[in-house]
Amino acid sequence: MRRPIIAGNWKLNKTIPEAIELVNGLKRNLYKIENVDTIVCPPFTALSSIAEIILSSNIKLGAQDLFWEEKGAFTGEVSGPMLKDAGCSFVIIGHSERRQYFAETNETVNKKLKAALKAGLTPIVCVGEKLAERESGKTFDVVKDHVVSGFKEIGDADARKCIIAYEPVWAIGTGKTATPEQAQEVHEFIRNLFSKLYSSQTASLIRIQYGGSVTPENIAALMAKPDLDGALVGGASLKPDSFSELIKKTSEVKAK
Ligand code: PGA
Repeated sequence: MRRPIIAGNWKLNKTIPEAIELVNGLKRNLYKIENVDTIVCPPFTALSSIAEIILSSNIKLGAQDLFWEEKGAFTGEVSGPMLKDAGCSFVIIGHSERRQYFAETNETVNKKLKAALKAGLTPIVCVGEKLAERESGKTFDVVKDHVVSGFKEIGDADARKCIIAYEPVWAIGTGKTATPEQAQEVHEFIRNLFSKLYSSQTASLIRIQYGGSVTPENIAALMAKPDLDGALVGGASLKPDSFSELIKKTSEVKAK
């Protein structure tokens, strides 16, 4: 059985005091949840402060990006070992906003994926089609390309350590969620793809999150689908009550 995993992607939000307040709220609300992995991904500046606060909790820490080199003359970048040092165990890679605004490609995703694994971080690899791609029937081609190119030269044992986030770009921050059926169809496609690229065992182990306008209102129907193993949440992860509610609902649905 795959353990559900909900990650909050805070994006460019929260000062250190605001981040601490949010995580303290989550700790209070979530201490009883035992069957869901809960991850928060604050901005780099808040990572080490949050790492201390979550020590005595079931919440884990992730970063929103990393650079593939470990150190050197790369002004402004942050490496895998630095994230480990700051207390992270997860890192988001290839988010569509990185692809759109910061020229990330499948090639840079692949380099970052290798760097994350080398540093002992669990990568959350984002894939997903844009609206025009969906409307022209290219969803599966785009998702396949993101997965195949992103996982180039990644072996079976490493692939199993990764988490995939299927995030249709048209659903991110738009209030327009994929229907549970639309999401399930793509998740199943991704799982079958892992079966072909690796093995059926890897495919059955790998956790696939859905992302894109997930809210406390729509999470239960999404999580009821067999190939949805959790969610990557933006907007609704910024308030303790809505994020906790999402996790509690996931816990209930997946306990059934
Ligand atoms: P959203 O963002 O939940 O605000 O749509 C999701 C994401 O970008 O990971």
